[in-house]
Amino acid sequence: MFMKNCWQVAAFGREVVAGQLFPRRICGDAVVFYRARDGRVVALEDRCAHRYAPLSMGALIGDTLRCMYHGLCYDTNGKCIQIPGQDHVPAKARVRAFPVLERYNFVWIWMGDADKADATQVPDVHWMSDPAWVASEGYHHVKANYRLLNDNLLDLSHETYVHGKTIGHDSVAESPIAIRNEGNAVYVDKEMKNCNPPPFYQYLARVSATDRVDRWQHTVFQPPGYIVIDVGVQPLDAVPGSNRVDGRVIDLITPETASSSHYFWAFARNFRLGEPAVTEFLRENVRRTFDEDKDMLEAQQRNIGERESERGFDVAIRADAGPTQGHRLLASMLEAEARGSIS
Ligand SMILES: [Fe+2]
Repeated sequence: MFMKNCWQVAAFGREVVAGQLFPRRICGDAVVFYRARDGRVVALEDRCAHRYAPLSMGALIGDTLRCMYHGLCYDTNGKCIQIPGQDHVPAKARVRAFPVLERYNFVWIWMGDADKADATQVPDVHWMSDPAWVASEGYHHVKANYRLLNDNLLDLSHETYVHGKTIGHDSVAESPIAIRNEGNAVYVDKEMKNCNPPPFYQYLARVSATDRVDRWQHTVFQPPGYIVIDVGVQPLDAVPGSNRVDGRVIDLITPETASSSHYFWAFARNFRLGEPAVTEFLRENVRRTFDEDKDMLEAQQRNIGERESERGFDVAIRADAGPTQGHRLLASMLEAEARGSIS
């Protein structure tokens, strides 16, 4: 169900505040995050080895974490270093410590074999922290399996129906897509030539509904939950004051449980950087757009219900090509991980 030998986003860096315990469930496991005194993030299993009390209900004492049920104290490696009322600490008195690091304003966690964690494998979302870009970011908790979120982003034809108020337009559903697999990634490209811009792009490019633009969506998917979409419009008419729009929609999806997901997102732009109103417009409109996805995804998950999760759907349409390639790649990587050979 979950890929674990990979880096996944656990939180925005700002969510893990010095001196505080931050609990979050990742891939079914309860994890507690905190900052050591040197500022580095620590991630421990949120379950005391003794009676399974959540350590996130405990107390941070320097770099150590005390369970506030019976007082067992753990170090940053998850090793119990003190048990009140006895000198001996059994070797089994320990909780998992997960490899964790901060990059691009995110906290990334490695839920798999700790000895395989390789800091060079963090997926590239440099747009989050590159001074040439400004990111408008947000988070949605979605009560749906992470693969449904992947499917949503690998088939953008849904924009026409779900997002008519912002980014949806007939040209999105009608334009063909080109798909290719390269390495451990799926690429889905859609070009919408000489079309009218939807409201979202009218504002960003400073054009009107009747002006013509070339619009594009170039999506890259890396399992289990990394999707970055190069999006934008180029105005075709000589509209005074209009501008080209170049954006990256950054979608980082981390499973919470089999039927719920953490959805970290951002819209990074490299135009009109000095306009806070554009930053705010993007944050608000992308959030509203993803609220619409959340409504649909949660309703879809309710309909899937207790159905066996591996069972496919009954009807395939042409627009499924992206999701289908995504499923295949994810399945092959899950299989490779189960065999112990990460490809
Ligand atoms: Fe959507």
